[in-house]
Amino acid sequence: MKKAAEEKVLVLDFGSQYAQLIARRVRQQHVYCEIVRHNVSLERLRELAPKGLILSGGPASVYDAGAPRCDEGVFHLGIPVLGICYGMQLLCQAFRGEIRSLPHREYGRARCRVLEADELLAGLPEECDVWMSHGDQVTALSNDFLPLAATESCPLAAVKHRRLPLYGLQFHPEVTHTPQGAKILDNFLKSVCGCQGMWRLGNFARETVEAIRRRVGDGRVICGLSGGVDSSVVAALLVQAVGPRVSCILVDNGLLRKDEEESVIREFTEHFKTDLHVVKAEKKFLAALAGATDPQEKRRRIGHAFIECFAAEAAKIKGARFLAQGTLYPDVIESGGSRDGPAATIKLHHNVGGLPKDLNFELIEPLRDLFKDEVRQLAKRLGLPDDIVWRHPFPGPGLAVRCVGEVTKERLDILREADAIVVGEIKRAGFYRKTAQVFAVLLPVQSVGVMGDARTYAEVIAVRAIDTEDFMTADWSRLPYDLLARISTRIINEVKGVNRVVFDISTKPPATIEWE
Ligand code: XMP
Repeated sequence: MKKAAEEKVLVLDFGSQYAQLIARRVRQQHVYCEIVRHNVSLERLRELAPKGLILSGGPASVYDAGAPRCDEGVFHLGIPVLGICYGMQLLCQAFRGEIRSLPHREYGRARCRVLEADELLAGLPEECDVWMSHGDQVTALSNDFLPLAATESCPLAAVKHRRLPLYGLQFHPEVTHTPQGAKILDNFLKSVCGCQGMWRLGNFARETVEAIRRRVGDGRVICGLSGGVDSSVVAALLVQAVGPRVSCILVDNGLLRKDEEESVIREFTEHFKTDLHVVKAEKKFLAALAGATDPQEKRRRIGHAFIECFAAEAAKIKGARFLAQGTLYPDVIESGGSRDGPAATIKLHHNVGGLPKDLNFELIEPLRDLFKDEVRQLAKRLGLPDDIVWRHPFPGPGLAVRCVGEVTKERLDILREADAIVVGEIKRAGFYRKTAQVFAVLLPVQSVGVMGDARTYAEVIAVRAIDTEDFMTADWSRLPYDLLARISTRIINEVKGVNRVVFDISTKPPATIEWE
């Protein structure tokens, strides 16, 4: 699996919201990239032997007492370094440059003039747009450095060391608002670091299948199925590796979307000839959820019920020694689960529902090194249908966290019908691929309405549609009014018990994507 990864570049993470994005952009240039903590030791870096290092941005100021720093020896390893924003400031500071705070933070687009089209900026137009987001900037360079580009408010927008392979960019090449960003990163990777660009998902799939085959030998593997793209790709890789010695378990918790169970079973049996266990557990989950209204309490109860169902079914599968999971690279970094990666960050309220370690299986996590967009590409390569490849994420606790307040069969049924209309209309209008996640939420309030001559007092459905690349930040989708109108009319006409539909126009942060 690590063959293509022999040529790799590391991102040193100084707390940037863009660290993962940088790594994805590097991989998009076919160079394998991982994120490591900012203070990774020189010894470990020599061992990892990357072809290049990228120092991420970060919220600190280089003069802050507790500011995250890297070992300055990093600049003398002979490995090319690209410092971005805060990373550039650290680099320049290490060589006696001067860094100052701006009176106002600069945020947004700036016009950048190329002064010196050396290897890093080769092939760029003389002027281009770049994206700035900084409160400090380098105001003076030591004689070791040379300016490469300038903007009106930032005369040192790009710099290079005169003798060593060290570069700095004040702007962010990783965001799409810097249209030449991909070109700059490609120049750094290919011309400065000498990478050939050998990272290919096709190789990854082949090597992963071989690695699974070697590891599993003639054993049996259990794989949980959710209908999402991650678990489907895991199942596809397993089936390729060990054929019928894969047993899949689908827990129908009664919290799935309309017709979801049937469609997962249909797609699965069409694509894979292997053992499928469907655990019908709606009653068990509804009983477990009775009386719970607190979101975390709901997650906790669902997590317990899931483990019980899964473990009981798994115990029936004779000779199974391995358990496969669809853990992705962002889960690994965000949970602090990587040896060299940054410490655990916020979030993990979601993973309440994970499987416990003491199930006594050896874990197989074939997607541990991949980002979501890579998993989708892999799904395509493996021949999975578009409906799976592009499926929006769906939370483990399912509709329970979209049924705000108490979860009952009646409320779930209302939500399921409304959700099916939302997703159906979005698909029909060609907006499913343009949005990252769309769904309905059933609110815990009732509102007054009028139908015919009668007054009604009925449920409210909120429609949520978001655009995002990484689900850490999100904007609400600017859906056409006509589409919203169709969704609203259909829900009110067709879903009994609903008399009002509202559209959620909150960004994340401060709101989250889910309502609970
Ligand atoms: P939030 O609501 O935190 O959601 O902005 C970010 C992404 O995570 C999904 N999500 C979950 N996924 N179990 C999951 O497996 C959960 O408990 C959970 N809560 C939120 C959410 O759908 C979005 O894609």
